[in-house]
Amino acid sequence: MKNRNTNLRSTMGILMLAISSVLLLSACGGSEDKAAAGPSKASLRSLAPSDPQLAAIYQRSCKACHGTGAPAIPQSGDVEAWKPRAAKGMDTLLDNVINGVGGMPPLGMCMDCDPEQFEALIQFMAGDALSE
Ligand code: HEC
Repeated sequence: MKNRNTNLRSTMGILMLAISSVLLLSACGGSEDKAAAGPSKASLRSLAPSDPQLAAIYQRSCKACHGTGAPAIPQSGDVEAWKPRAAKGMDTLLDNVINGVGGMPPLGMCMDCDPEQFEALIQFMAGDALSE
């Protein structure tokens, strides 16, 4: 009888733990939505250039870093994040993609891209930030 009571108590303990971690998790989910700047993660993942050839390049190279919400990387369509970058001018941005900059490998992992394709990809990712 004594054993049964202790078992019941520890079962209740585990249950309470489970319930409070579920509450904690849902609280975190809410604040993450509010903190997100630019496109939401779901729409970010479905963003792609309208040109099918560019879309394919984007899909297999740039998107791994610029379309998955990775922190500290300017994400596609996030105009605020792109503004300070766009201010350097397209020529500098293009050079930095070709030679690599910071955490970005040379050519942004598209070894067979030509400069026009890079320019179009930058235009797609930075969007309105470049036209301001
Ligand atoms: C392996 C991850 C990775 C891939 C793949 C990648 N990038 Fe980047 N990119 C980065 C990171 C990290 C930065 C920020 C570099 C920094 O300023 O420190 C960046 C920055 C940039 C910038 C801004 C450069 C500047 O001077 O501020 C441009 C433009 C850019 N990427 C274009 C591209 C294009 C186009 C592709 C695809 C062809 C691509 N990237 C693929 C990681 C990546």
